[in-house]
Amino acid sequence: MDLNNKKVLITGGGAGIGRALVAELVQRGVQDLAVVGRRPEPLQALATEFTGVRFLLITADVSRAADLERVVAEVIDAWGGLDILINNAGVVSAGLLTELSDEDIIQQIAVNLTGLILLTKKCLPLLQQSQEGAIMNISSGYGYIAMPFYSVYAATKAAVGQFSDAMRRELHQYPLHVMTVYPAATATDMMKTAVVRNLDSAEDVAQAAVEGLLRRTINVVLGGPEREAQIRTNFLEPEKIDAVAIASFEALRERTATHRSM
Ligand SMILES: NC(=O)c1ccc[n+]([C@@H]2O[C@H](COP(=O)([O-])OP(=O)(O)OC[C@H]3O[C@@H](n4cnc5c(N)ncnc54)[C@H](OP(=O)(O)O)[C@@H]3O)[C@@H](O)[C@H]2O)c1
Repeated sequence: MDLNNKKVLITGGGAGIGRALVAELVQRGVQDLAVVGRRPEPLQALATEFTGVRFLLITADVSRAADLERVVAEVIDAWGGLDILINNAGVVSAGLLTELSDEDIIQQIAVNLTGLILLTKKCLPLLQQSQEGAIMNISSGYGYIAMPFYSVYAATKAAVGQFSDAMRRELHQYPLHVMTVYPAATATDMMKTAVVRNLDSAEDVAQAAVEGLLRRTINVVLGGPEREAQIRTNFLEPEKIDAVAIASFEALRERTATHRSM
């Protein structure tokens, strides 16, 4: 895929992995970028840092359908088309299911899943007109291997992977590549309230994701061969991963006690 002259819409592009994706895409030639986030300041900062890029900065909340309508209307107004949609915005709230507030459960699903599906639906008439387009959905390693204290987050992220696979098969007659990225723990604001070692950098995740896009990789899984082996084990012998989760249960409870980014 040639990224020059591609029109790209990314959610959550003002911070973390999304911001690193913006930098990676700009470095590889993208000049038209629509970036969505709730806070205007991180969006404005992009225009200051990446001069020469034609940004469409849209303050919007992906959990609100009316905001998503406005996002797509602004893209149509400015460009009349769209080649690449990157659904990156996401939030987490960790804890035992019995301890999670109803609001945090509903909002994790609304941001990580419902918003992603609705934005995809609303962008599809544009994407289906692209001569060479893509949909990149950001899931998580927890989308493959669920862990205690992350039941809702993991459920949203597993659903993201299934949604991507269904969309790719549903859209087979269009020149659209549909892919999923499964980051491991990454050093971003999302992880500031968790105690985790050995974090990937957001730049490494973005590089792997964009290289995957260029190679038309379907699933970009961060975490190396060890992670891929764990995914196979989780599928074929889930009781082995159960044993790992049980052995680290109390440590995980401590490390995730305050993990919340919403
Ligand atoms: N960091 C990790 O360890 C890790 C691991 C696996 C997967 N992921 C996934 O990677 C993606 C990016 O995460 P990150 O670590 O970069 O998180 P982050 O640093 O917290 O950044 C999240 C971005 O999403 C935006 N956002 C959050 N809620 C939004 C909403 N309702 N509407 C619009 N924008 C919203 C935020 O901007 P505003 O606050 O201004 O809205 C921010 O730009 C997420 O989908 C996450 O689940 C992260």
